[in-house]
Amino acid sequence: MATVRLPGLIDAHVHLREPGYTHKEDFYTGTAAALAGGVTAVLDMPNTVPPTDTPARFAEKAALAASKAVCDVGLFVGATTDQLDAYLPIAQRACGLKIYVSETFGSLRIEDLGLLHRFFRSWRERAAGDALSLSKGGKSQVADTDERTTQFAIRNSQFGPVAVHAEELMLPVCLNLSHLYGVPLHIVHVTRRSEIELIRRAKEQGYPVTCEVTPHHLFLSSDDLSRLGARGDMRPRLAAPDDVAALWENLPIVDIFATDHAPHTLTEKALPTPPPGVPGVETLLPLLLTAVHDGRLTLDDILLRCVENPRRIYGLPPQPDTFVEVDVDARYELTDASQRTKAGWTPFAGHSVFGKVEKVTLRGQVAYDGHRILAEPGSGKVLFQSV
Ligand code: NCD
Ligand code: ZN
Repeated sequence: MATVRLPGLIDAHVHLREPGYTHKEDFYTGTAAALAGGVTAVLDMPNTVPPTDTPARFAEKAALAASKAVCDVGLFVGATTDQLDAYLPIAQRACGLKIYVSETFGSLRIEDLGLLHRFFRSWRERAAGDALSLSKGGKSQVADTDERTTQFAIRNSQFGPVAVHAEELMLPVCLNLSHLYGVPLHIVHVTRRSEIELIRRAKEQGYPVTCEVTPHHLFLSSDDLSRLGARGDMRPRLAAPDDVAALWENLPIVDIFATDHAPHTLTEKALPTPPPGVPGVETLLPLLLTAVHDGRLTLDDILLRCVENPRRIYGLPPQPDTFVEVDVDARYELTDASQRTKAGWTPFAGHSVFGKVEKVTLRGQVAYDGHRILAEPGSGKVLFQSV
């Protein structure tokens, strides 16, 4: 038995479902599941009901998270067709702007090129304006505001990236808009060979792009669909084995491993048209540690993509005195019954994994002791709220 001490992991893509879908998950159950998986900060997506697209709705969500979360939570704002860019006044309090360009769960899909122009342009103008006012007030390291420095000004002012769900032909559209407007772009859940190779090319050309891959797209493929049924249905869909191979071949350009934790109940998954999405926040670390055990990843590969890079890309603050103790040799079977997510299941049920989280310490307090969540609701912080 070998217990290793790691920094708390960051899951940069989760759906904690509050407000609107609390029968699937809420800020307490979702962040408790995160802690049990060794995750001490999550970035929550805006496709709730109502969506997180105005300052009032953002404030409502931040208050819910602040009273219930047991790990730290960053909140995305989302681009919507009816509120347009109403979130701009509080954009700095968000970890980024999420735009759904491809098929997804919920109603936030944007399919209009004119609107996409608007969202990229307004995010850039807001970020650049913010950087300028900060530099006048002497708080920013931004020295000047000419065209060439504006991209960097966006990061220096702690403005998050535009994060897009953009598959197939929508990917080059978003890459170009980001390049043309000089807005850092983060591509969530990349799945196909054609997509990862395009991102590699864009990175080689100096585009301001980063990307993420989920464990389910690394460890499952379309070959698992007949076995999994609706439990294997998510967007983007599980891809062909050759696409999975391409993700592994291109690991050096994958910036983040994030789960796209998208809980739906098993009752919903049994409907004739089941909602797409699978839970994942608490299986992230054991699945990745199993790949370390199998010689497919190193521990440093995990820490780079689950701690350092998400922190850098989203400008997240450090979490002092925060760490995870994990027995990397403990082997066990993942089951539905052992999942803490309110959804109560995992697409990896039956998988044998290595890596048992024994203790999680958040800001010096034991938040999870390997069996129970000890952290009080509200002990998690909502990030970026003091700006
Ligand atoms: C997500 C959900 O359920 O919110 N579903 C999914 O299949 N990934 C939405 C999304 O991330 O596109
Ligand atoms: Zn998602």
